[in-house]
Amino acid sequence: MSYMALYRKFRPREFSEVKGQDHIVSTLKNQIKTDRIGHAYLFVGTRGTGKTTMAKLFSKAINCESPREDGSPCGQCACCRSADAGSSMNVIEMDAASNNGVDDVRRIIEEVSYPPTEGRYKVYIIDEVHMLSTAAFNALLKTLEEPPSYVIFILATTEPHKLPVTILSRCQRYDFHRISNEIIASRLRELTDAEGVQIEERALSYIARAGDGSMRDAISLLDQCIAFYLGEELTFDKALLALGAVDTDIFSRLTRCITIHDVAGALSVLDEVVGQGRELSQFITDFIWYLRNLMLIKSGGGMEDALDMTSDNVARLKEEAAQLELPVIFRYIRVLSDLSAKLRFSTQKRVITEIGLITLCRPQMEDDAGSIVERLISIEDKLEGGEYQSAAAMPMMPSEPVEKVPFPDALPEEVEDLARRWPVVMAGIESGMMRTMLAKALVSATPEGHILLVYDMMQPEQRTALEYMTYTRNEKLINKLALEEYLSGEAQANIIVDIKGNEASAPKEKMYTSIVDAIARATGTEVIVEDF
Ligand SMILES: Nc1ncnc2c1ncn2[C@@H]1O[C@H](COP(=O)(O)OP(=O)(O)OP(=O)(O)O)[C@@H](O)[C@H]1O
Ligand SMILES: [Mg+2]
Ligand SMILES: [Zn+2]
Repeated sequence: MSYMALYRKFRPREFSEVKGQDHIVSTLKNQIKTDRIGHAYLFVGTRGTGKTTMAKLFSKAINCESPREDGSPCGQCACCRSADAGSSMNVIEMDAASNNGVDDVRRIIEEVSYPPTEGRYKVYIIDEVHMLSTAAFNALLKTLEEPPSYVIFILATTEPHKLPVTILSRCQRYDFHRISNEIIASRLRELTDAEGVQIEERALSYIARAGDGSMRDAISLLDQCIAFYLGEELTFDKALLALGAVDTDIFSRLTRCITIHDVAGALSVLDEVVGQGRELSQFITDFIWYLRNLMLIKSGGGMEDALDMTSDNVARLKEEAAQLELPVIFRYIRVLSDLSAKLRFSTQKRVITEIGLITLCRPQMEDDAGSIVERLISIEDKLEGGEYQSAAAMPMMPSEPVEKVPFPDALPEEVEDLARRWPVVMAGIESGMMRTMLAKALVSATPEGHILLVYDMMQPEQRTALEYMTYTRNEKLINKLALEEYLSGEAQANIIVDIKGNEASAPKEKMYTSIVDAIARATGTEVIVEDF
């Protein structure tokens, strides 16, 4: 007997089986009922939330010979049966992840001109549509503009921001939500009942949670557990083992290392985890969950039942909780949540995890933007070796103040000229830090002859840059002064710099942009800044 993965076996065949996307189900059913079907749909949402499923179900419903009153497919007619068997000729699927070229799109589009052989509609499902090349998008666009009446496009993507607006504007968009743990758990219950599998409620909700909003992931995990303990009752402890959940002993040791600021100890626990072949993203997610349990115990009030733990571990957890203060646990969770988000997209998972653990052990390492700037400056000072020297002025400002020859005040034309040559001017600044911070500003010349730097306060990086540029020591804006000094030397005239933190106040027409834009304009190419 061939084995079929549960999530394929239980791909919903009726709208009622699609869980957690009620808003989409009811809109689409209404369209079918009132026969107001669109010609291009965009299904957006994270993995495993039902996009492909819904696309197939929708095409089955609109082709059904005798749909039910509420718009559901009958499930009996020839069209429904071929759809359920996966042999329908009306549904043409293309996976743009592996067929992303213009020829791939042309191939399917050529067939658009032939009407369907059975049923009323031909439905083209293009999965992961954001992967198409620009040329392929253009080819698709032509057909999207004027499709024959019997053609429907359903585009599915996890990354809608990568789609050209020309495509977006032609589609009805539906957003698929991450599915709640409760809804996933109840669907898993349906499947285990149908399969005759005995499973403990806690095991079920653990698996549901591990799915992290994705029904497919949760069902696959359930599948793994069942395969591991075929024919046995699936208890919570068995589910933990089957999914390779790290046992609480490791978490408990790790927590202890962190609380006593033992970096070496924490890293050696991590080493052990890696050695066991654990997946680090999962490990960190589980660790967060462990800390959440500590937090619940600490908050008191008989929360034991809400914990995913074997009973001996609960006792141990209580001991642990006694050693920690709530705000400290909050901080751990916050740092680890950031870490977990970073891990998702990183190829350097181990290094990033190590940095995260070190940050946990050393609270002074992690702080707000203000103190980061302060620390950067002190490091810079140390490197350059002078108490009151600051970044930009380094080459031209000796540590012993010398008699300065005063420059004449700059004329507005001179300032304008400086702003126009900004990228070149800036390139002459010795300090990389200063250049980086300046590169984030919009630069212009004001009518009264000042250089104006404007930072967008909505952007954290720009806020940091603004703080750097307006950093004050001994009541002096040392970095601003250094910049003025440098610019004055360049212009051979006295230059005043104004620094503002609000885009709206910048004079739009006289803007000379950041260095990146300037280079891009001068060279006519797109400039991508990896990381300053
Ligand atoms: N909302 C849901 N209700 C019930 N089952 C679902 C739901 N979403 C997903 N599933 C289950 O997961 C399987 C995969 O779902 P589907 O292929 O529709 O996900 P998807 O959103 O297209 O994911 P991807 O972005 O990875 O393509 C389905 O066969 C079904 O068993
Ligand atoms: Mg899909
Ligand atoms: Zn039917």
